[in-house]
Amino acid sequence: MADLIQRTAELLVNARQVVALTGAGISVESGIPPFRGKGGLWEKFDPMEVAHIDAFLNDPETVWNLLIKDMKTVLDTARPNAGHIGLVDLERLGVLQTVITQNVDGLHQLAGSSDVIEFHGNFAWLRCLDCSQRIKSTEVDLTRIPPHCQCGGIFRPDCVFFGEMIPHEALVRSQQLSAACDVMLVIGTSATVQPAASMPLIAKDNGADIIEINPEPTPLTARISDLPLMSAAARLMPRLVAAVRQRLPAG
Ligand code: OAD
Repeated sequence: MADLIQRTAELLVNARQVVALTGAGISVESGIPPFRGKGGLWEKFDPMEVAHIDAFLNDPETVWNLLIKDMKTVLDTARPNAGHIGLVDLERLGVLQTVITQNVDGLHQLAGSSDVIEFHGNFAWLRCLDCSQRIKSTEVDLTRIPPHCQCGGIFRPDCVFFGEMIPHEALVRSQQLSAACDVMLVIGTSATVQPAASMPLIAKDNGADIIEINPEPTPLTARISDLPLMSAAARLMPRLVAAVRQRLPAG
């Protein structure tokens, strides 16, 4: 592992443009369960029944009660961990430019990352199904489920449900950055949900090196990962940041 970290650090300091793609795994050490695998949310629920837009539109009250309320409780108190902070450190060292995240927890921004593309939206915001007003969930009465807008419409979380399009700007910018980067750090994602899972493939097709940080193998590992670092992100990132620092001129 020590050798892999050194090689990764070398790639990062010599890269022109580095982009990170993150998934639920980076927030596991912040106490947020992932979706797949042991202890994952989709072990408890069928995503087509609670996370598909049709399920929400058919029965918003049930989806709010089954999924959204509990998720909000966890997300509202979660704090960034050493994985998120490591990405901030890489940005401040001038090594990393942008984080594309599938997460809706806002923890990259809370940690201090300045350029975060939220591929699947953000759970801290709600949007009215009728008038499209967007509002912070802290400003809404959540004792009445589903919560209602002043116009009478029902609020939904401002995130992407299954069966919905990715926000246009987030998708286009992610595709452009994936094609332009020369190193992509893929952290804590099972790389199974499209179109996010295509970003590393776009990067690879355009000549980038793929660094994967994940304790488990993914469909990318054997196929396109140049440096698979099989470890929890919060354990690995501080070591990677230290190795990058050693290679940069002091000051
Ligand atoms: P998943 O739950 O599918 O995958 C989490 C990944 O994180 C797995 O590959 C784990 O091995 C890895 N992992 C677990 N603990 C880790 C740790 N401590 N450090 C690093 N990696 C760790 O999550 P995503 O790939 O993010 O979509 O899922 C993608 C999308 O599927 C989500 O954005 C969500 C979900 O349905 C929507 O809500 C639209």
